[in-house]
Amino acid sequence: MDGLDTLKARYLGAIASAADEAGLEDVRVAALGKKGEISLKMRDLGQMDPAGRQAAGALLNALKDEIDAALRAKKTALGDAALDERLKSEWLDVTLPGRPRRPGTVHPVSQVMEELTAIFADMGFSVAEGPQVESDWYNFDALNIPPEHPSRQEHDTFFMHRDPGDDRPPHVLRTHTSPVQIRAMMQEGAPIRVIAPGRVYRMDMDQTHTPMFHQAEGLAIDRDISMANLKWTLEEFCRAYFEVPSVELRFRASHFPFTEPSAEVDIRYSIVGGQLRIGEGDRWMEILGSGMVHPKVLAAAGVDPDQWQGFAFGMGIDRLAMLKYGIPDLRAFFESDLRWLRHYGFSPLDVPDLAGGLSL
Ligand code: DAH
Repeated sequence: MDGLDTLKARYLGAIASAADEAGLEDVRVAALGKKGEISLKMRDLGQMDPAGRQAAGALLNALKDEIDAALRAKKTALGDAALDERLKSEWLDVTLPGRPRRPGTVHPVSQVMEELTAIFADMGFSVAEGPQVESDWYNFDALNIPPEHPSRQEHDTFFMHRDPGDDRPPHVLRTHTSPVQIRAMMQEGAPIRVIAPGRVYRMDMDQTHTPMFHQAEGLAIDRDISMANLKWTLEEFCRAYFEVPSVELRFRASHFPFTEPSAEVDIRYSIVGGQLRIGEGDRWMEILGSGMVHPKVLAAAGVDPDQWQGFAFGMGIDRLAMLKYGIPDLRAFFESDLRWLRHYGFSPLDVPDLAGGLSL
């Protein structure tokens, strides 16, 4: 049979110079595929006489085996080379020490919550909590805000879903932390002193309002707690919180359904060289709402108003953070911008406490 040597030289050459597995596969198909050159020659054997078929068959089979072996060897070599290449490019030194990552920071809101808690804990208040999805009884009724009360509208409440046909009043995203007063009194009774920081929700959005924000509620109930105790407590708090030697508060008569009498509290401040100074100057800024807990609120929470009385107050935590740390835009608080967090965040290792300093 003529030409087998040429064939062999051609295919072995093609195999040797195949650059990758796809190229090698092309060579295999051309030689040994169904319609490959060698396969076709095998088929031609059928038309030969027995003697010729035997001689040519042996030669063809040997050639086929040789090409087959060359293909396999090359395939293995290509595979090894590809793996080597990968290992080189994906090289990883597992003995390399970890790179020090920048530690995370504590969000100003968390920081202020810690500060508040530290200050009030020092005055004998414990921390109370309640759910963010609240029943309308806790959020409104128990706080002496009946269904038709106008302040229900003022709160721009988010309502939870109720199935059609379910006529119970829908739950709400709590619009203030005041319902925690009710829960705490129902759980602990009187006397009680609690501070309840947490998230609250109202439909509102501009430079100073976000739909979710934070409040802290304070409550102190005992046999003879008065407005004077409220005033002292808030002054102590402001001095400690703003870290100034003295503050001046102004109580303005106001109205909240859950307190009687009610007062809004302003703090004296000034702006010097663009910097806010708390405790001096001739400007006043509102920082919280407060009052003596309404007898109906005590009664709703199962505390006898003939024996117990006390004060409550509610303040905006985000607002307090903006004031103390000079942060201009409330919306940035909740945008999770790492640059903002690094700039305004606090070291996780500096836990605020009164003895060591709140925000050093
Ligand atoms: N709940 C009020 C609000 O969301 C704040 C407030 C005012 C809370 C007076 C009180 C209070 O406990 O006595 O605006």
